[in-house]
Amino acid sequence: MTILVTGGAGFIGSNFVLDWLAQSDEPIVNLDVLSYAGNLENLAALDGDARHVFVKGDICDRALVDRLLVEHRPRAIVHFAAESHVDRSIHGPGAFVRTNVEGTFVLLEAARAHWSTLDGDAKARWRFHHVSTDEVYGSLKAEDPPFAETNAYEPNSPYSASKAASDHLVRAWHHTYGLPVVTTNCSNNYGPWHFPEKLIPLMIVNALAGKPLPVYGDGRQIRDWLYVTDHCSAIRAVLERGRVGETYNIGGWNEKANIEIVQTVCALLDRLRPSTDGPYSRLVTHVTDRPGHDRRYAIDARKIERELGWRPAETFETGIAKTVQWYLDHPDWVARVQSGAYREWIGQQYGR
Ligand code: NAD
Ligand code: DAU
Repeated sequence: MTILVTGGAGFIGSNFVLDWLAQSDEPIVNLDVLSYAGNLENLAALDGDARHVFVKGDICDRALVDRLLVEHRPRAIVHFAAESHVDRSIHGPGAFVRTNVEGTFVLLEAARAHWSTLDGDAKARWRFHHVSTDEVYGSLKAEDPPFAETNAYEPNSPYSASKAASDHLVRAWHHTYGLPVVTTNCSNNYGPWHFPEKLIPLMIVNALAGKPLPVYGDGRQIRDWLYVTDHCSAIRAVLERGRVGETYNIGGWNEKANIEIVQTVCALLDRLRPSTDGPYSRLVTHVTDRPGHDRRYAIDARKIERELGWRPAETFETGIAKTVQWYLDHPDWVARVQSGAYREWIGQQYGR
């Protein structure tokens, strides 16, 4: 048995691959194009491990996906690959439509062709697990209940619109063709290997460099935060025990305003790596708000708990402390990401 993971060199994907192989000997074929967000250094611990087969390639490449399905005959596809950064989607939405919509379409068509050749138990147990986001539901008012799986889709950014489109394709491939799919919609992840374009890692690395900590608008926007390995365990639960055709919301029951997150990071750094220039919060700088910025996300994660018994293991306090410590312990990883040196590995590996 084996599974095919897409986007397994990105933030959540690499955590998922490491976590999976720490708990199971079932091999992973990891298909990743190594965009700016893909970093094989995240997976260095698996060098020489035969259970991890890395394939540098594009999910939009139908011939490649077909070949991988024929060669490796995975029992499931776990689909992480995406353009994931909202700010980048505002500056350049085309890449988001291509990877998130067209790429998901290509995978679904390849999966459908492969699945139709199976029979019996192999066909019944086969899964396409689509990893999606809470942003498809739009923005909540302060008094609104958290997002449930039954909420209408109201995406507001090019990123969330592209993810919503991919969710709809996945739903339709189940409804029309019977493809056995599950979809998970998760809130904001944080933890190790997080690319420092996103809020938490950006604040940590900027603070350590004595640079401004850019807070969009008033900083009162609210997100729900989930430690990344809790997302990984939720995906495993849904993949193994989730009902076919269902969607499951995944969240940490941790609604926090951005400014509170930034202050928490500063306070942890003050304790763990004090600056001689004074508290890190002196670096907080309010900047122009993100266009169309969603005000609040919150997740009602009762369905996955009720049906599958999943709950996050980390609280925000334990998760953020581990995360800040991880960045302090990995200055070389941060330096190589910031200098772009992590991308040289691709040339060294594939230039041969
Ligand atoms: P990421 O940007 O860190 O990683 C994306 C990975 O996909 C990278 O390794 C990249 O090289 C790869 N990729 C991009 N285009 C590709 C293509 N055309 N073919 C093959 N590989 C390609 O993203 P992430 O934060 O790890 O998110 C992973 C998934 O989880 C995404 O689908 C995202 O929408 C979803 N998600 C993320 C969060 C979050 O907080 N980060 C929350 C909920 C859902
Ligand atoms: O909700 C899940 C989503 O969370 C995922 O689907 C996305 O892939 C992921 O990127 C994330 O989206 P956000 O836009 O919420 O994450 P980001 O880290 O970019 O921003 C978090 C909040 O912090 C948001 O309200 C914008 C704000 N922010 C962000 C940055 C980068 C700032 O105030 N300053 C910043 O410099």
